[in-house]
Amino acid sequence: RCAEARAIVRANTPVNGEYRLLTLDAPAEVLDCHPGQFFQLLCPEPEGEHPYLRRPMSIYGYDAEAGRLQFLYKVAGAGTRGLATLVPGDALNVLGPLGQGFTMEEGWRNLMLVARGVGLATLAPLARMAQQEGRRLTAVCSARRADLAMSVDLFRSFGAEVIVVHDEDGSSSPEALEALIRARIAAGGVDAFYTCGSSRLLRLLQTLGAEYGIPGEVAMEQQMACGIGMCQACVRPFREGDRRVQRRVCREGPVFPMAEAIL
Ligand code: FES
Repeated sequence: RCAEARAIVRANTPVNGEYRLLTLDAPAEVLDCHPGQFFQLLCPEPEGEHPYLRRPMSIYGYDAEAGRLQFLYKVAGAGTRGLATLVPGDALNVLGPLGQGFTMEEGWRNLMLVARGVGLATLAPLARMAQQEGRRLTAVCSARRADLAMSVDLFRSFGAEVIVVHDEDGSSSPEALEALIRARIAAGGVDAFYTCGSSRLLRLLQTLGAEYGIPGEVAMEQQMACGIGMCQACVRPFREGDRRVQRRVCREGPVFPMAEAIL
């Protein structure tokens, strides 16, 4: 169940040259979260810009016991510019948790997460879930530069094996990644894939998933307006068997079976 609540900023700090981490004290009614879900944040208005607007943001971390909620974001528009102005003690209206999160079927013992950029933040809560459920997780973290690979320490803290690949040439090229993933599959190490943040990675995992019969899930990134299934702004096509169907990313997603996504 989602709720609207007033959260209080605990910290709002840069984590590297591009991203900031927002930590909120939030009430229990919004903390029954699941990895892959998102919130609509009512971002403050930066001076001289649009009126208040809600912006969807995937959950980076949550802890119901501690009353904490975290978001990792890049300052990229009016909404996130507003968020960046928040200081400890400020209030922020949050609506959530929203959408359908990731699933982890019983037989999926060895998980492989392959993601890039801020997509890694969306997948971060999966690491804790994998550890709690006693699954093995390999996290392939792709970034433009090694120092921009996100969530690496967090993945490690939850027991994941982390492989960082980057564009300078550490090598995040499609050929190198494909070879790496094929080697893992050949060693019997992958029961399911998870991905977010890159069409190129999704396409690669779809191809390998189809070839080896490995299932997977993708968290789709999509422009949204209402975030609660009312406005149809987030509708996009998916594959269901031989049919093409329209689905609302905010409501039926944002997490979907990887094979159903149409790029
Ligand atoms: Fe309005 Fe999805 S954003 S229906």
